[in-house]
Amino acid sequence: MPLTQAREIAAAKRLENVRYAIRDLASVADEVIKQGHKVLPLNVGDPLNFDFQTPPHIIEAAYKAMRDGKNGYAPSPGIPEALEAIRGEATRKGITTVQDVFVTSGVSETVDLCISALVNPGEDILTPKPDYPLYSAVLCKLGIALNAYDLNEDDAWHPELADIERKLTPRTRGLVLINPNNPTGSLCSRQMLEQIADIARRHNLVAFADEIYDKLILPDSNGDVTPHLAFAAVAPDVPCITFGGMSKNYLVPGWRIGWGIVSGDAAAIKSYTEGIHRLLRARLCANHPEQYAIKPALEGPQDHLMEVQRKLRSRRDLTQKWCEATPRVSCVAPRGAFYAFPRIDIPESDEVFVKELIRQKHVMVVHGSGFGQKPGTQHFRIVFLPDEKTLTSAYAGIADFIRERYGVA
Ligand SMILES: Cc1ncc(COP(=O)(O)O)c(C=O)c1O
Repeated sequence: MPLTQAREIAAAKRLENVRYAIRDLASVADEVIKQGHKVLPLNVGDPLNFDFQTPPHIIEAAYKAMRDGKNGYAPSPGIPEALEAIRGEATRKGITTVQDVFVTSGVSETVDLCISALVNPGEDILTPKPDYPLYSAVLCKLGIALNAYDLNEDDAWHPELADIERKLTPRTRGLVLINPNNPTGSLCSRQMLEQIADIARRHNLVAFADEIYDKLILPDSNGDVTPHLAFAAVAPDVPCITFGGMSKNYLVPGWRIGWGIVSGDAAAIKSYTEGIHRLLRARLCANHPEQYAIKPALEGPQDHLMEVQRKLRSRRDLTQKWCEATPRVSCVAPRGAFYAFPRIDIPESDEVFVKELIRQKHVMVVHGSGFGQKPGTQHFRIVFLPDEKTLTSAYAGIADFIRERYGVA
């Protein structure tokens, strides 16, 4: 018998605004699954849920490392051969002012460490709106007020420079740029990168360039593929951390391997980099055996990327055609990653739209409000990773749902 009545243990108040809409919808999906239905998951960006396979030579490298006894702790910044391979990748991407590189347990950890090592209470970091929700979650965890700049749907979802200028305060320390973007699938032009670099220079900001999707670039409407441009290559002098990783480009999201590439003026970035290393040491190390797959991934055969890009192009085209043909739906064509962020013209919230869509048609997408969006607009995010047959059936369900619930406009 317990001696005293247990009292409820409350979670920290600063977590109240931490949301992860992508996974929060799971409870609605569970209801539907319990009723015996199969749910089509167009909500999680995990290629391994669909017809994508990890390149075998990468699996072999991690397996070999385990067999060879690489199962203890690794050096905190990462194993030397992985660090060297990441530096090589930075050089191939035209980043000429690399000051440091380190390996993490996924870009998720890079985000957490790099933001934690920079901001003091009362300071802020500019994050995009809509954004990948981890950024706001980490800032909430640190008790930092959110300061989001708009991405402009009327300008291919590019950052709205005037809004960045409006939101800057003397206490703004950094700016997050996700390129290619999640959730919009947009890709930044060189001119846009240069303009953002100019703002960073004038306001002494650290640029956080989240480029985790940099090898998943899709053709434009003329069929041309513009190679991805690293922010740090365009702005070698600006203090920058480029976030990269294995999850998406090399199809191993469950391995949790990411990295950070620190670039910019050596003297300017030194003390901040030391702060990052303090945190790297405190958390011991990233996953060890998987780090042996970084060099084979970055330097070995890249054949799988052709196949991934072929599938993504076909699925993006199908998605775009459906958006164009469906009443109440419009969409800026995605140019990278595997997300589309269509706008919907409906008389209720996009959260209700998404939940009812799961209940009635068993298709799961994520509401735009889960990523943040301009007031008065409604969107949903589609993950277009499933094969064409599955997508066609999911889109037919969404179109029927829109017609039945709202009429044709
Ligand atoms: C923009 C962006 N950054 C970071 C991450 C996290 O990546 P990782 O699996 O390397 O933690 C994701 C995952 O979807 C993402 O979309």
